[in-house]
Amino acid sequence: MILFIIEILILVSTPTPSDIRWHDPVRELFMEECIDCHGDKIDQNVKHEAVENGCDICHESTGEPHPEDGVSGFKLVDHTPDLCYYCHDEAEAFPSGHQPVMEGKCLSCHDVHGSANQALMILPEQELCLSCHQKLQGKKILHSAIEDGGCMICHQPHGSEFRGLLNERYPAEEYPVASIDSFGLCFMCHDTDLMEAEETEWATNFREGNRNLHQLHINGVKGRNCKFCHNMHGSDQEFLIEDQIPFGNWEMQMNFIATEEGGSCLPGCHGKKAYKRL
Ligand code: HEC
Ligand code: HEC
Ligand code: HEC
Ligand code: HEC
Ligand code: HEC
Ligand code: HEC
Ligand code: HEC
Ligand code: HEC
Repeated sequence: MILFIIEILILVSTPTPSDIRWHDPVRELFMEECIDCHGDKIDQNVKHEAVENGCDICHESTGEPHPEDGVSGFKLVDHTPDLCYYCHDEAEAFPSGHQPVMEGKCLSCHDVHGSANQALMILPEQELCLSCHQKLQGKKILHSAIEDGGCMICHQPHGSEFRGLLNERYPAEEYPVASIDSFGLCFMCHDTDLMEAEETEWATNFREGNRNLHQLHINGVKGRNCKFCHNMHGSDQEFLIEDQIPFGNWEMQMNFIATEEGGSCLPGCHGKKAYKRL
C-alpha cells in the first residue's frame, strides 16, 4: 500500500528542475519513505543540500515497482554533468581547466549524496589528488607547503586563470624574466629578498659568504626557473633539490651534496661548484 502511494506521488509530482520546491511537506514524506531503506544516503557528515530536500529532484520513477529484483524503478532526470548544472554554474571556460572537470566527470571526485569529507569529496583532499597523480607519491621530503596546506594551497581543483591550475603566477619558461611577479606563487610565502637581495646574511642559505646565489642565478630578462634546481612537491634530497632535471632531450644529474657550511653540485651546465656561507 505504502509503495503504491509512493508511486502515485512520483507519477504526479516528479518535478522539473526549474520548479524545485524546497520544504514541501508532501515531498518530505516521500523522502522519509526512501530513507527507510536508503538511510546511508543522508546519514553523512557532509550533506548535499540538494539531497536533504528530496530524492526526486534527481531520481524519477520509471513507473515500475520499487524495489524489485531485476527492475530499476528509477532513472536519473539527466546525465552528469548536466544534472549538476541545473543548480551549479557550469564550469567557466578557464584557460587552464582540470581535465576530469572539463570531461564532466564530477563523480570521480564528489559523492553526490553525502560524504565524510568537506566539499563532498570521495576521499580526503590529498589522497584524492594523489589517487590519480601517483607519480608525486613516495618522496622522502615533502614541501612544507603541502604538509601544512595540502594541494589546494597552490592549486585550484576545477580550473584557474593561471596555468597549471595554480592559485598564482608561475612561469612555464626555463629562462623567465626574473621578477617577483613572474614567480608570484612562491613569493606568496617566501621572502622576496631570497631572489632580489644581492648581499644578505639571512634571506637565503644559498650564498657564498654574503653573496646571494639565488640572486646570481635568477636575475635579468633571462632568469632561471626555480624548477631547474627544486621540485615544488617533494624530493629525496634536502632543500627539495632535484636529483635530475630534463635539459633538452637529456636527463641532467644535479649531484648536489649539502655540507654544514654550504654545498656543492656538479650539473651538466658547469663543472663542480661549491659554496660556503662562512
Ligand atoms: C523497501 C526498501 C526500499 C524503499 C522504501 C526504497 N528503496 Fe530504493 N532500493 C532498494 C533496494 C533493495 C535497492 C537495490 C539495492 C541497492 O542498490 O541498494 C534499491 C535501489 C535503488 C536505486 C538504484 C536502482 C537502479 O537500478 O537505478 C535508486 C535510485 C533508488 N533505490 C531510489 C529510491 C527512492 C528515490 C526511493 C523513495 C521513493 C526508494 N529508493 C525507496 C530498497 C528500497
Ligand atoms: C543531486 C542529485 C541527487 C539527489 C538529490 C539524490 N541522488 Fe541518488 N544518485 C544521484 C546520481 C547522480 C547517482 C548515480 C551515482 C553514480 O553513478 O555513481 C545516484 C545514485 C543513487 C543510488 C544508486 C547508487 C548508490 O549510490 O547506491 C541510490 C540507491 C540513490 N541514488 C538513492 C537516493 C536517495 C534515497 C535519495 C534521497 C535521499 C537520492 N538518491 C538523492 C543523484 C542524486
Ligand atoms: C537541485 C539542485 C542541485 C543539484 C541538481 C546539484 N546540486 Fe550540488 N548543491 C546544491 C545546493 C543547494 C548546495 C549548497 C549550496 C552551495 O554550496 O552552492 C550544493 C552544494 C554542492 C557542493 C558543495 C558541498 C559542500 O559542502 O561544500 C558540491 C561539491 C556539489 N553540490 C556537487 C554537485 C554535483 C557533483 C552535482 C551533480 C551530480 C550536484 N551538486 C547537483 C544543489 C544542487
Ligand atoms: C579533480 C576533482 C574534482 C572534480 C573532477 C570536480 N570537482 Fe568539484 N570540487 C573539488 C574540490 C577539491 C572542491 C573543494 C574546493 C575548495 O574547498 O576550495 C570542489 C568544490 C566544488 C563545489 C563547491 C563550490 C565551489 O565551487 O567551491 C561544487 C558545487 C562543485 N565542486 C561541483 C562540481 C561539478 C559540478 C563538477 C563536474 C563538472 C565537479 N565539481 C568536478 C574537486 C573536483
Ligand atoms: C580522476 C582523476 C584525477 C583526480 C582525482 C585529480 N586529477 Fe589532476 N589531472 C587529471 C588528469 C587526467 C590530468 C591531465 C593529464 C595530466 O596532466 O596528468 C590532470 C592534470 C592536473 C594538473 C596539471 C594541469 C595543467 O594544466 O598542467 C594539476 C596541477 C592537477 N591535475 C592537480 C590536481 C589536484 C590538486 C587534484 C586534487 C584536488 C587532482 N589533480 C585530482 C586527473 C585527476
Ligand atoms: C608550493 C605550491 C604547490 C603545492 C603545495 C602543490 N603543487 Fe602541484 N605544482 C606546483 C607548481 C609550481 C607546478 C608547475 C610546475 C611546472 O611549471 O612544471 C605544479 C604542477 C603540478 C602538476 C602537473 C605537473 C606535474 O608535476 O605532474 C600536478 C599533477 C600537480 N602539481 C599536482 C599536485 C598535487 C597532487 C599536490 C598535493 C599533493 C600539489 N600539486 C601541491 C606547485 C604546487
Ligand atoms: C603556501 C606557502 C608556500 C608556498 C606558496 C611556497 N612555499 Fe616553499 N616552503 C614553505 C614553507 C612553510 C617552507 C618551510 C620553511 C622554510 O624553509 O621557509 C618552505 C620551504 C621551501 C624550500 C626549502 C625546503 C627545505 O627542505 O629546506 C624550498 C626549496 C621551497 N620552499 C621552494 C618553493 C618554491 C620554488 C615555491 C614556488 C613554486 C614555493 N616554495 C612556494 C611554504 C611555501
Ligand atoms: C641554481 C639552483 C637554484 C635555483 C634556480 C633556485 N634555487 Fe632555491 N636553493 C638552491 C640551493 C642549492 C639551496 C640550498 C641552500 C643551502 O641551504 O645550502 C636552495 C634553498 C632554497 C630555499 C630554502 C631557504 C634558503 O634560501 O636557504 C628556498 C625557500 C628556495 N631555495 C626557494 C627558491 C625559489 C622560490 C626559487 C625560484 C624563484 C629558487 N629557490 C631557485 C638552489 C636553487
